[in-house]
Amino acid sequence: MIIALDGTTSSGKGTLAKRLAAYYHLPHLDTGLLYRAVAKSALNKGIDFADERECALLAAHIDLAEFDERELRSAGVGAAASVVASLAAVRRALFELQRKFAQQKVGAVLDGRDIGTVIAPDADVKLWVDASVEERARRRFKELSSMGESVTEQNVLLQLEERDARDAQRKDAPMKPADDAVWIDTTRMDPDACLAKAIEIVEAHKLAPKEKKAPARKPKS
Ligand code: DC
Repeated sequence: MIIALDGTTSSGKGTLAKRLAAYYHLPHLDTGLLYRAVAKSALNKGIDFADERECALLAAHIDLAEFDERELRSAGVGAAASVVASLAAVRRALFELQRKFAQQKVGAVLDGRDIGTVIAPDADVKLWVDASVEERARRRFKELSSMGESVTEQNVLLQLEERDARDAQRKDAPMKPADDAVWIDTTRMDPDACLAKAIEIVEAHKLAPKEKKAPARKPKS
């Protein structure tokens, strides 16, 4: 079973994906970490984000084991990830890795922005996870503060809006819900309620599986 979770920044999709994967004993890939690792690598090496070829080369050889996840989750790396994620060549370079992960025999849970639309259009269950921007800013502010970053909630909100706009408006694989995704609005839900809702959706799918869509095709150069 492939479960695809897409949605906005700090909507709770990452936590939900991790818990859903643990519940169903499925491997989980947070695909945002891949874009964050490419951005961090470019920052470390002094590579310009406008240099699509060099950024794509980094993406083609990215190994998450070489990065400190805490560093990848910083606000600065997140903003940079959104910029490199708008480069078509970077997305192409990361396609196979994500696709392979999705196609494992045992199944998989992937979360990101284009899982249900581009990486795994053939996913068994697709979830679109969102929350009000104010609630997301509140959560992200709490998270960043606990990581020791000095930010204001107002600033976090502005950055979230900027990131959402960039992710949704890029030409290549923009962030959007798949036509057949089930929406979960987490604004007034805690993580346990989100998990319960997602399990309910997966179980409903098991009782009445939907028709499979065609498998993913690598985006053209
Ligand atoms: O989910 P996240 O905040 O860790 O993602 C960081 C950035 O990476 C986000 O702004 C958009 C991009 N991203 C993407 O374009 N496609 C994905 N499948 C996952 C993340």
